[in-house]
Amino acid sequence: MALTDASPTEQADPAASSSPSGMGDLYPYATDHRLVVATIDGGDRQLVHLDWSNGRRQTVHALWLRDQCACNRCRHPASLERILDQKSYGLDIFPALVSIDGGQRLFVAWAEGDHISVYAAGWLRHGGRPPIPPARRRPWGAELADGLPRFDFRAVMSRDDALLGWLEVMRETGLAYVEDAPTVEGTVGDLVRRVAYVRETNFGTVFDVVALAESISNAYTSVDLPLHVDLPAREYQPGLQLLHCLSNQTGGGASLYCDGLRLAEKLRADDPAAFDLLARTPVVFRYHDENCDYQMAAPLIGLSENGEVREIRFNPSVMTTADCPPTEIREFHRAYRHFMRLTRDPELLLEWRMQAGDIAVFDNRRVLHGRRAFEAGGGRRHLQGAYLEWEDVESKIRVLRRKIR
Ligand code: OGA
Ligand code: ZN
Ligand code: ZN
Repeated sequence: MALTDASPTEQADPAASSSPSGMGDLYPYATDHRLVVATIDGGDRQLVHLDWSNGRRQTVHALWLRDQCACNRCRHPASLERILDQKSYGLDIFPALVSIDGGQRLFVAWAEGDHISVYAAGWLRHGGRPPIPPARRRPWGAELADGLPRFDFRAVMSRDDALLGWLEVMRETGLAYVEDAPTVEGTVGDLVRRVAYVRETNFGTVFDVVALAESISNAYTSVDLPLHVDLPAREYQPGLQLLHCLSNQTGGGASLYCDGLRLAEKLRADDPAAFDLLARTPVVFRYHDENCDYQMAAPLIGLSENGEVREIRFNPSVMTTADCPPTEIREFHRAYRHFMRLTRDPELLLEWRMQAGDIAVFDNRRVLHGRRAFEAGGGRRHLQGAYLEWEDVESKIRVLRRKIR
């Protein structure tokens, strides 16, 4: 039987689905290349070789192919989720026949289960998954003051390309200003909802930063706020923070930012022993009041498996104790003080005075923020803040890229 003659049956034709890729996937999987030949490996019949028009050979496994069949029996056309029982075929399943249709589709007739699967070339070419855009984090220091990324509020709210531009910069620098926002309470929530959802905390959905006589946090006084990240006592510190300036008529109160990634790399270069200690010693953070008691133990410098700095968890005002033996305490504090000294290094510090209508947005797991003391009895200083999660930002970026790139 020539398989190309087996006109795709309704059970097996993913192109019949409404998804742009034809693979039950909303990502379009565009490719300039065509499939030329598909062959079953002579030695291992579970391997299929795909030869492409540009000479590339790609090898895929039968289990991978079978698993991802996007026909209506294997995947629900509305939910786009799998309905195939992945134990309904054998671990040794192999294709009886493979063939190519017009360079654009691969047909596989399976040796078991009376099933034919069809795969779009673009989807195969992409290895069956949308490209994961690399997070190109660009470390910065004081010099960012000359090129602080700034975006127009109305543009971001109304145009998808402006929204994408802003969110992509957030992944790179972890700090940007959205400007000329209305000085209306609740606006910061509108901006977050343009991206995704507000992360609610014990401080509220949208919280006010004003000097109060009876304060539940140092933030709500007029004192100096040394560099810190917010809510380190949470298992997941909020991913991004937004602070919207509604008025700033008092003396002082300048905003401070420091790229924790740059700081940590400087520490690693200058004092590797301190870096290692801070990357492996859990520190207990605690925030509590009448209604809540949050505690989290984690190192100040969180590393990924390959040793890259993943996150910073630094906040002296709610840091309780390092979780290490007494014999290591002195060395811990030496390292901790080195880290603290770097938070005051003018080369790393960006100082910026917010104006009414500015919304400062920063990566709360990377960029430290703070403010200079301000005159409590002076003019009004009122910020409104909100938190947003990175996974929601990443999701939005992918959705926008489906349309824009
Ligand atoms: C905060 C904070 C900065 C400011 O509320 O956590 O850091 O400028 N505020 O008041
Ligand atoms: Zn199927
Ligand atoms: Zn803060």
